Amino acid sequence: MILMAAMFSAAVLILPGVAAGWVVGGSPEFGGPPPVAKSAAEKKILEVLAEIRGGPWMANVDPLHGRLLRILTESQGARTVVEIGTSNGYSALWICLGLKATGGRLITHEIDPRVADLARQNFKKAGVEHLVTVVVGDAHDTVSRLKEPIDLLFIDADKDGYLDYLTKLLPLVRPGGLILADNMARPRPSPDFVRAVTTNPDLETVFLNLERTGISLTVKKR
Ligand SMILES: C[S@@+](CC[C@H](N)C(=O)[O-])C[C@H]1O[C@@H](n2cnc3c(N)ncnc32)[C@H](O)[C@@H]1O
Repeated sequence: MILMAAMFSAAVLILPGVAAGWVVGGSPEFGGPPPVAKSAAEKKILEVLAEIRGGPWMANVDPLHGRLLRILTESQGARTVVEIGTSNGYSALWICLGLKATGGRLITHEIDPRVADLARQNFKKAGVEHLVTVVVGDAHDTVSRLKEPIDLLFIDADKDGYLDYLTKLLPLVRPGGLILADNMARPRPSPDFVRAVTTNPDLETVFLNLERTGISLTVKKR
């Protein structure tokens, strides 16, 4: 009887997902059915993304956050996206899916030259190396080289550094531009960052996907 009840509950949880072609929460593409490539170029990027997911674990964004980055990059018509924390280029590749459509570019920052090399290899494999500039060094210093308006800023590096990145780059974020910060649930950035994005009247912020790693989404008001 208990077994039957357990089987019934499992079916109720799983069947709607199966009917839609994916399993709720259990899929690496958590957040919906996997993206459908519109072109050979998109297919190539999606294949490299899948390859990275299937390889050794690295602290990459949740695929849901990657897909959100792509959607926001494309819908913003972003010309300049800045990322802090490149790692092997997983989130950057999601951003590139959007940039291919907008004609924009990504400037991504990484302190570790070995993972920066891995990222460059992945960008080449995905055919997007012309869209990305990888800046190697401590981003707390290297971001001072940025001068152009930023359409979308993605912060995903040292968690204690989030406030410093925000303070240094907020003046460059254009009115209507977006700031996303990863790991708002775990491992959390310092409370100072949360305070800064939730108490500044120039900003409007929501926190998403908090049952997983969590991400914040902030617009710089016009
Ligand atoms: C969570 S990983 C980034 C994951 C990446 N955004 C993705 O989803 O594929 C954080 C990265 O930030 C880098 N990092 C940490 N401190 C940094 C700093 N001060 N400047 C630049 N990069 C830094 C780390 O070396 C690491 O590769």
